[in-house]
Amino acid sequence: MQKKIVYVSLIIFVGIVAYQVFLKATEKEIHPLTKSWEKAVPHQQIPKGLASLSAEQCGACHVKHYEEWQHSTHSHAWTDLQFQAELKKESSPYLCINCHIPLQNQQEFIVTGLIDGDIYQPVKQTNPHFDKKLQQEGINCASCHVRDNVVIGSTGTTKAPHATRKDPVFLSEKLCLSCHNAKAVVTSTLVCSFETGDEWKAGPYYGQKNCISCHMEPTKREIVAGFGERLSHLHYFAGSGIPKEKGAKTKVLNGLAFYPSEVEKTYSVNEEIVYRLKLKNEFAGHRVPSGDPERFFGISMELMDETGKVVSRKTDRIGEKWEWYPAAKKISDNNLNPKEERTFTFSYKPTQKQKLTLAVKVTKNRLDKKSAEYNKLDERYPLFITVFDEKYAIEVK
Ligand code: HEC
Ligand code: HEC
Ligand code: HEC
Ligand code: HEC
Ligand code: HEC
Repeated sequence: MQKKIVYVSLIIFVGIVAYQVFLKATEKEIHPLTKSWEKAVPHQQIPKGLASLSAEQCGACHVKHYEEWQHSTHSHAWTDLQFQAELKKESSPYLCINCHIPLQNQQEFIVTGLIDGDIYQPVKQTNPHFDKKLQQEGINCASCHVRDNVVIGSTGTTKAPHATRKDPVFLSEKLCLSCHNAKAVVTSTLVCSFETGDEWKAGPYYGQKNCISCHMEPTKREIVAGFGERLSHLHYFAGSGIPKEKGAKTKVLNGLAFYPSEVEKTYSVNEEIVYRLKLKNEFAGHRVPSGDPERFFGISMELMDETGKVVSRKTDRIGEKWEWYPAAKKISDNNLNPKEERTFTFSYKPTQKQKLTLAVKVTKNRLDKKSAEYNKLDERYPLFITVFDEKYAIEVK
């Protein structure tokens, strides 16, 4: 009898030890989130004096700021058709949303860590405070202005009816860089390559002009009707100006200055027609294009005869080229540095008398046609805008 008890106890003991060894071996390690874009801005309560965190509600008083922000791509950072298409892919990790809907209040799940440090295995729980309407607003007023449950301002001298804290350092270009400068190899085929901040720091504007002075132009106006004029900043966040949807409101900034050469009106047979277009990154505080590695400028020069048939064509591209498979790798990059210039030359020797038209176009492109088709983006999603468009009539006598 006693022997039996010993045996049973021994079996139980061995069982427990084996089970614990098994547990130890299969134990998952939870890694904390470290990078700013791996995590959301912690949950925010509605600041005292307000009824909601929504941009629409800020806009009830800050009418102009709201109207301007609606033009910006910040207000489309969630609804953007390409973003939504990308997000549906299995290869897109949870962290994609942190720069596009940065507040935890805008996110369906609360992510607290990564199992074994794997970005495809976030530890998540349902967010009881998830606000779907707030999510649609993308990078809204509160994304930049609400922290620790109060509205952050840069003066602290206003008569705001809401809880406000003065923090001009928080509301500086540092805020912009938290999303506009991310360089990380997330996985072998997923690389974050937004270097607008580094490009600016390396260029001639550093210490002279920053993200805010160029993208949020200062102006004098009432920030709420009836409260008197003060220093204010336009909230269009104008950039490339490529609209998010056909016909959408947008504000364009142009980085390039164009210096086309003269074209003679008449040439003789066998005389070379030479045309030069000099482009200079005159106005951007960073390289152009910048940010999204899919952006590029297209330069097209076409010589057509009287019937519209192209007799000679030259195309060029300013931008980066990447290979994504089997591993993400930048293949080439001829983006223009601030103040850098580049000349594109077209030449043609006509062999007969004829009337010709030289059509020159420069387009600013969001992404190429192939990528757009791959992501099934239809014609609602504009791929480019034209920033230089000239036609020269030439007669070969
Ligand atoms: C009920 C009207 C009202 C609403 C709603 C409102 N504000 Fe204000 N806000 C004001 C007034 C009034 C001022 C002060 C104007 C003045 O003195 O010139 C102000 C001031 C500010 C300032 C400047 C603070 C400083 O220190 O310089 C910021 C920034 C601001 N509001 C952001 C917001 C944001 C973001 C929201 C939405 C989350 C919001 N406001 C909602 C009325 C409102
Ligand atoms: C000296 C003025 C200036 C400064 C400083 C500046 N920008 Fe720009 N930025 C421009 C201009 C002009 C364009 C438009 C370029 C174009 O598309 O032709 C632009 C374009 C952009 C774009 C769109 C890029 C693209 O290729 O489509 C982003 C994003 C951007 N800026 C962010 C920033 C951030 C972030 C900072 C601060 C680190 C900054 N900018 C500093 C002038 C400036
Ligand atoms: C991408 C970040 C960002 C977003 C989004 C944003 N702001 Fe601002 N806002 C700023 C910064 C930065 C300043 C301060 C500029 C300075 O003082 O140098 C500012 C300043 C202000 C001010 C003070 C007055 C002024 O014009 O300088 C008000 C009021 C304000 N914002 C309201 C709003 C409202 C309302 C929205 C949404 C409709 C909004 N902001 C969206 C970054 C943002
Ligand atoms: C929370 C992250 C975040 C912050 C903070 C932020 N941005 Fe952005 N910004 C974005 C994203 C994401 C987009 C692209 C949205 C889209 O196209 O769907 C964008 C777009 C832009 C564009 C337009 C680029 C284009 O395609 O033309 C400009 C300009 C810009 N931001 C400037 C700024 C400036 C200036 C600041 C600081 C005051 C700032 N941003 C702060 C995330 C951010
Ligand atoms: C570090 C912040 C950050 C993270 C993380 C991030 N984005 Fe963005 N995203 C941006 C900024 C900034 C822009 C605007 C860049 C520009 O115009 O130069 C942008 C723009 C975009 C655009 C619009 C491009 C266009 O041409 O208008 C898409 C689509 C997009 N991101 C998809 C994603 C996907 C998918 C992920 C996850 C794999 C992701 N983003 C993660 C910051 C971020």
